[in-house]
Amino acid sequence: MAEPNRRSAAVPNDLEAFWVPFTPNRAFKRAPRLIARAKDMHYYTPEGRAVLDGTAGLWCTNAGHNREPIVADIQRQAAELDYAPAFQFAHPKSFELASRIAALAPGDLDRVFFCNSGSEAVDTALKIALAYHHVRGQASRTRLIGRERGYHGVGFGGISVGGIVANRKHFGTLLAGVDHLPATYNREHQAFTKGEPDWGAHLADDLERIVALHDASTIAAVIVEPMAGSTGVLPPPKGYLERLRAICDRHGILLIFDEVITGFGRLGRAFAAERYGVTPDMITFAKGITSGAVPMGGVIAREGIYDAFMRGPEHVAELFHGYTYSAHPLACAAGLATLDLYRDEKLFERAKELEPVWADAAMALKSVPGVLDIRTVGLTAGIDLASRPDAFGKRAYEAMERGFHDEGVMIRITGETLALTPPLIVSDAQIGEIFDKVKRVINAVM
Ligand SMILES: Cc1ncc(COP(=O)(O)O)c(C=O)c1O
Repeated sequence: MAEPNRRSAAVPNDLEAFWVPFTPNRAFKRAPRLIARAKDMHYYTPEGRAVLDGTAGLWCTNAGHNREPIVADIQRQAAELDYAPAFQFAHPKSFELASRIAALAPGDLDRVFFCNSGSEAVDTALKIALAYHHVRGQASRTRLIGRERGYHGVGFGGISVGGIVANRKHFGTLLAGVDHLPATYNREHQAFTKGEPDWGAHLADDLERIVALHDASTIAAVIVEPMAGSTGVLPPPKGYLERLRAICDRHGILLIFDEVITGFGRLGRAFAAERYGVTPDMITFAKGITSGAVPMGGVIAREGIYDAFMRGPEHVAELFHGYTYSAHPLACAAGLATLDLYRDEKLFERAKELEPVWADAAMALKSVPGVLDIRTVGLTAGIDLASRPDAFGKRAYEAMERGFHDEGVMIRITGETLALTPPLIVSDAQIGEIFDKVKRVINAVM
């Protein structure tokens, strides 16, 4: 007879206790979507049914699921060093991983601060920006500029500079002194564009309006996602990021790229900064650094930012910031194994090669009734659906449910948009399979 599970003996194992994040809990608990196991491109339900992963989990499992080299290194690390204090002490792999990340990042972005998530990465970058101006004697630079429809995680800094109303409206006054650039999406000018749309670079000029309103001496940083992912896949208009960079340079404002989604190959390069030839002052990362296997995030700062802090008495910390689990040994082991895998299997190059195949497969859904727009960039696609009358988001929600239960494909949704963004190991045949399944799902919910 099987050994009874000691941990579940004393308490009922039902669905009630767990408050599921960013999920309608009542509906979920009526018809749960449970995943018990994963391998490469597939999830498996507790009953053993395969579900093709069209979303790389939450845009994170870029190397695919449960890859042997990553699993083995995490296991080895757990047996060798479970934890070392993150403040005042360090372990060797944290330095090794920081060097590897710095080598992948463009220009002089070569100082890495570790944390545990994208949200922490964003709040860390915003704090570094404020502190940087402070230590350089420009303490009046306190304003932070985000963008409408931006997603920068769920910390108070991130939702303050973010621009998704549902993530902001219940949480009080947020950070003071935040302005927002306009979103870069306009269906009339951009519908059904593969890659970066031609229209919209001028929207960056709104930063000049904000500078004129407040004066540059009050502005610390601008933060944008190079490709806005969570709001529904909005690639940057051609020339937009270059313009933001030029305006920031003109006024001494730091430019932060939030690459929590775009980092580690999603757009066919290590970072979107490389794809667009625009070097920001800081990059935030998370997700793909460990291919989702262990939580980890971080900020890559230009050398000059780090150097600005290296002053004052040598026994005093230069930056009063950090997390108990910054550079956790398991995360570092997972990160190093993941970067090896990306390199050895040339997965960033693979994403670049597959981009046209992926874009063609996505655009083939253009004539499906109820599809209002399709956007693609790298190995990512957003498909906007027509809403049911008076029920914004319900159609996409049903598509996600049907995808999982009936078609065996994982689809991510945001509002009325289906977001598809598979692991970078996806095959040509699996690209076809994803969009065949998605097409059947859309037809079923129309
Ligand atoms: C651009 C961006 N920033 C930050 C975050 C937050 O990351 P996390 O959920 O790890 O806190 C996300 C998550 O999707 C993201 O897409």
